[in-house]
Amino acid sequence: MNQSAPDPAPVLALKGVSKSFGAVRALRDVSLQLFAGEAHALAGENGAGKSTLIKALAGVHRPDGGEVLLDGEPVVFHGPADARDAGIAVIYQEPTLFPDLSVAENIFMGRQPRRSLGRIDRGAVHGTTAALMRRLGVDLAPDRPARGLSIADQQIVEIAKALSFDARVLIMDEPTAALTGSETARLFAVVRALRAEGAAVLFISHRLEEIFALCQRVTTLRDGRWISSEPLEGLTEEDLVRRMVGRDLDDLYP
Ligand SMILES: Nc1ncnc2c1ncn2[C@@H]1O[C@H](COP(=O)(O)OP(=O)(O)OP(=O)(O)O)[C@@H](O)[C@H]1O
Ligand SMILES: [Mg+2]
Repeated sequence: MNQSAPDPAPVLALKGVSKSFGAVRALRDVSLQLFAGEAHALAGENGAGKSTLIKALAGVHRPDGGEVLLDGEPVVFHGPADARDAGIAVIYQEPTLFPDLSVAENIFMGRQPRRSLGRIDRGAVHGTTAALMRRLGVDLAPDRPARGLSIADQQIVEIAKALSFDARVLIMDEPTAALTGSETARLFAVVRALRAEGAAVLFISHRLEEIFALCQRVTTLRDGRWISSEPLEGLTEEDLVRRMVGRDLDDLYP
């Protein structure tokens, strides 16, 4: 992004969002801004509230307080379909495709292009899927059954599906946890390409080196509280760990 350009409005944002599960305060007054063309990391220890934050953005959880803003306007997502229709795609650690359907059928599940007499236009489904895979720079045959695909390939199918919905925001909750090194490298190449096309990305990983390799900005949560949002440039892994576990650790154990 051009450093000298004025700050654009965030594509998607949380403003003062809180969410409790019974007595557990998973998010307390958390804010976050996602910008087009930027990969944003969400860091925090186990239970810090990362997945809960993502579910608030994805329409899975309705915040108890605060707002979700889309292009600067408050929105209420009543379910995941609302978020998807708003251009927000979530890729989970282990996608759940329909194993008996092909890659292409999974992407166009429930909305296959039809020809006259309501017949599914297989040629269009196949061709569009092939084009999506080319755009992602991935070699994955549209006719392949989902059954037997690696988790990494299943994630690619989910990303292709997101593209077919014209997603502008790509949210990934620990997508690399079950991937090999080369699969992670391919995923990162895909994410960088989407970022270059202007997508806003939110990325969760416990591996700090991945955060530094992929992202430009990081927000840290601790015990459901917002700690910081800042550029990664100039930050060290120790800086990040200190924000995740608490600045006062040295004071507690001198
Ligand atoms: N559906 C739920 N019902 C009850 N408690 C929940 C629910 N979802 C999350 N929590 C609690 O909210 C807190 C935050 O959980 P969350 O899953 O958001 O953390 P996280 O940062 O994603 O952790 P991890 O790194 O382990 O994935 C935890 O204390 C968790 O037990
Ligand atoms: Mg989580």
